[in-house]
Amino acid sequence: MNDRRIERRNPFLWACFFVVMYGVGTAANGGDATRGREHLLMHAYLPADFDQEVFDELWTTWEEPLRERAARAPIAERRRMAMDRYGLTPHPDDPSRSLQYVVGADGAWTMSCLACHQGQVQGRAIPGVPNSTYALETLTEEVRAVKVRQRKAFGHMDLGSLLLPLGTTVGTTNAVIFGVALMRHRDADLAIVQRPPRFDLLHHDMDAPAWWHYRRRKSLYVDGFAAKGHRVLMQFLLVKENGPEKFRDWEDEFRDIEAWIAALEPPRWPGAIDAALAERGRGVFGRHCAECHGTYGADGGYPERLVPLAEIATDPVRLQSLSEADRAALNASWFGHFGAERRAADVDLPAREAGTGYVAPPLDGVWATAPYLHNGSVPTLWHLLHPDARPVVWRRSATGYDDRRVGLEVEERDVMPAEKLPPAERRRFFDTRKPGKSAAGHDFPAALDDAEKAAVLEYLKTL
Ligand code: HEC
Ligand code: HEC
Repeated sequence: MNDRRIERRNPFLWACFFVVMYGVGTAANGGDATRGREHLLMHAYLPADFDQEVFDELWTTWEEPLRERAARAPIAERRRMAMDRYGLTPHPDDPSRSLQYVVGADGAWTMSCLACHQGQVQGRAIPGVPNSTYALETLTEEVRAVKVRQRKAFGHMDLGSLLLPLGTTVGTTNAVIFGVALMRHRDADLAIVQRPPRFDLLHHDMDAPAWWHYRRRKSLYVDGFAAKGHRVLMQFLLVKENGPEKFRDWEDEFRDIEAWIAALEPPRWPGAIDAALAERGRGVFGRHCAECHGTYGADGGYPERLVPLAEIATDPVRLQSLSEADRAALNASWFGHFGAERRAADVDLPAREAGTGYVAPPLDGVWATAPYLHNGSVPTLWHLLHPDARPVVWRRSATGYDDRRVGLEVEERDVMPAEKLPPAERRRFFDTRKPGKSAAGHDFPAALDDAEKAAVLEYLKTL
């Protein structure tokens, strides 16, 4: 095995960081949550994406005036600018590295699960909050340009992105289709089989879900088709360099990773709450929302309800992009324990239903998980509650948070800007008219009057 691990410079600080930020979890699967977090931060499960020398030259590909600013900046500042541009969070132990990539002693940067699953809200890295600023396509394009100049070999992402779009809007990725495309070349035991690539893929970008929901769910993914388990979490590792034996070798580490994910708690709303208004909101929520989203507090319950597409009427592409055969193949493979996991989960969500609609997610910590809906098309909770006022095109400010509407601070538009924008800039706009990006549907809040909506918004902050 050629695993690269980053060295632990200061074990005491690390220990404090884990305990303070992440707590220590107990795990039903026998895994160790604290170790799970370490694997995520230190184990490179994929081939490296680029080296430090490439990272440090990325600024040379930027548009002006940013490039000029970077050229004059000291190296530490330039690295910080690069992290901001690509949506990376400085590592608490060493700000020249990021939480989203494992950086080896040899300077090699390797994407980890946290690339999509570790973001920031109001400048705070909340464990398990999706990364709503990740600019994977822009990073990959610019890495490729620097590698050409430095005469370095392309990695799997550099080549993959020539075949598949990685993410057409910052903060969302085509992750589901990466999985489908890679599973094409495996049999049920994950042995590598040579097959021509698929040309029928329905590309679409998704907003990753919050990891602290994992403990409340019995099935996984927005259409609920996969049963929970540590193996299914390993799909992201399906690159050809990882043969079937690697998956078996790493299974125990993924028990730890699953334990860590299952131990995460939703973050508390950091601001003030109008308790009386929230209490009224709780009543409205109980009448209009709880049948799908469950109840909260000490005796809360989560129904994990799958809502047929015709009723929810949100963007259909995610559902259409996986065929019945794709879903069945995943569940019948090593990832789904050859069908055993799915059969166990059928008790809660019948297989015949899975894949016909979207599951109403738990709403714990929902204030922190903007943008909303599975494709990340709705920037704030206020917009979710006002279906007619959702923007056609929006762009978030760099790191701004909208306390009043609860979610991303955005600029709203009726159309994309007329001038031709550099790709990195264009991807900062979310255009809901593009395939897979519709912000329509989930019209249930239309039954509420304005006072009820304001009360529900206040209540959602308490979850
Ligand atoms: C390129 C972005 C990306 C990377 C990298 C990534 N994920 Fe995800 N993950 C997603 C997206 C998008 C979804 C939602 C998929 C869906 O619902 O169809 C998801 C879903 C999940 C879920 C299901 C949550 C739920 O409530 O249904 C878990 C758990 C998860 N990922 C764990 C992992 C682990 C562990 C890794 C690393 C081995 C990983 N992910 C790597 C984007 C990513
Ligand atoms: C009939 C079931 C149903 C009802 C009733 C319902 N929802 Fe939903 N809700 C869903 C489903 C399904 C989704 C996921 C849709 C998607 O992502 O495409 C969702 C998504 C959401 C989201 C976005 C979550 C996220 O993280 O992206 C919020 C917030 C929400 N609902 C709040 C409410 C509120 C508030 C009410 C009551 C006014 C309500 N819902 C009523 C089914 C329902």
